[in-house]
Amino acid sequence: MIKVDLTNSTINIKSLPKITIGNIIEKYPNITGWIKPIKVDTTIKDIIATAHNINKKVDYLLVIGVGGSINGTRACLSMLKNNNKVLFVGETFDEDEIISIKNILTGKKFAINVISKSGQTKETLITFELFEKLLQHTTKDYKNYIFVTTGVNSPLDQYALANNYKTFHIADDIGGRFSTLTPVGLFPTAFANVDIKKIILGANEQLQAVKNSNNDCLKYAIARYKLYKKHKTVELVSTFNTKLYNFTLIAEQLLAESLGKNGGGILPQKTLYTRDLHSIGQYVEEGKKQLFETFLVIRNQSNNIKLNKISNKNIDYLNGKTLSQINNYAYQSVLKAHKKALVPTITIVIDDMSAYSFGNMYMFYCLASAFGGIIAKVNPFNQNGVNNYKTNLNNLLMSKI
Ligand code: PA5
Repeated sequence: MIKVDLTNSTINIKSLPKITIGNIIEKYPNITGWIKPIKVDTTIKDIIATAHNINKKVDYLLVIGVGGSINGTRACLSMLKNNNKVLFVGETFDEDEIISIKNILTGKKFAINVISKSGQTKETLITFELFEKLLQHTTKDYKNYIFVTTGVNSPLDQYALANNYKTFHIADDIGGRFSTLTPVGLFPTAFANVDIKKIILGANEQLQAVKNSNNDCLKYAIARYKLYKKHKTVELVSTFNTKLYNFTLIAEQLLAESLGKNGGGILPQKTLYTRDLHSIGQYVEEGKKQLFETFLVIRNQSNNIKLNKISNKNIDYLNGKTLSQINNYAYQSVLKAHKKALVPTITIVIDDMSAYSFGNMYMFYCLASAFGGIIAKVNPFNQNGVNNYKTNLNNLLMSKI
């Protein structure tokens, strides 16, 4: 279970305000469908069976989508290192990216999972158009290799129906970035042979944990808000584990898209340490005092590589040390240095790199974003800023046709 350590945060929380998930649901009943325990029902069993079946037939699953439609899935697969048969595309209009994916797929068997709640996002639809054509040219029974995940009755849903494509629906009351534990994330992760029942268990147990009035998720949301009130307007979400880096992407998305509103909110920024200590580490230490930092730390690290019989005399005092120990020393060093530099830090401790922990942590960040909205008095479930870009692009594209 996730634990939040505020020792170096400069924030002292004596007692938490009485904010519950009931308050969130009551205020936003039409968009909080994800705040309830997930049951392994016939839909989920169908997702697992379909995903396992298609896995046996193809070399790759091409997942097409952007933002909330793919960031959670990618975080999960990176964390579990199960992503060698899953390719993600559709996040840009960059033709080089399309060409490089096409090159990977040449001579290979592949299936497509196109994901868009609105069924209207141009990056997604245009990328789907290109790869649907490729599949049509290379596979006679291509219809059996296309899986559509979308909102009921969306334009993409109607297209899928007209073309007889297998469709998974996203419930109306679950928004993009909160939808990873629906077919959006469950189908591709089940394809990658992740035990999605364990993800669900981790998420359900996080939901249970926030029923405790003294829960760590609310503690994190309150600490962020108090730091914001002390003019800490940038949060570095930092990890020392490459496998967790893509989790910082979905954390960034949940926090920024949910809470960056009405001219306010904290700007989250992902960092991978120790890499980024050699670049923005300078700013953290001596730049403008607008930052605080949240470390994502794994309690039970793998510990397999040991330095032995070191030949380089400059570092031979490290004989017998493991890389994980050294990584932990790096974390302790940063903690100390940033404390001295008056940068408040929060540490979020995650048990391990497991499917259970992913579910636990994803639900933690969804709930922390929702609590953050209630605390800051902003609606965490809309994204007018993102929609403005989408509308302008649509208008521009249509005016040129
Ligand atoms: O969280 C959100 O709502 C967004 O990040 C969306 O997921 C993203 O814009 C993609 O939208 P759609 O799923 O409608 O294609």
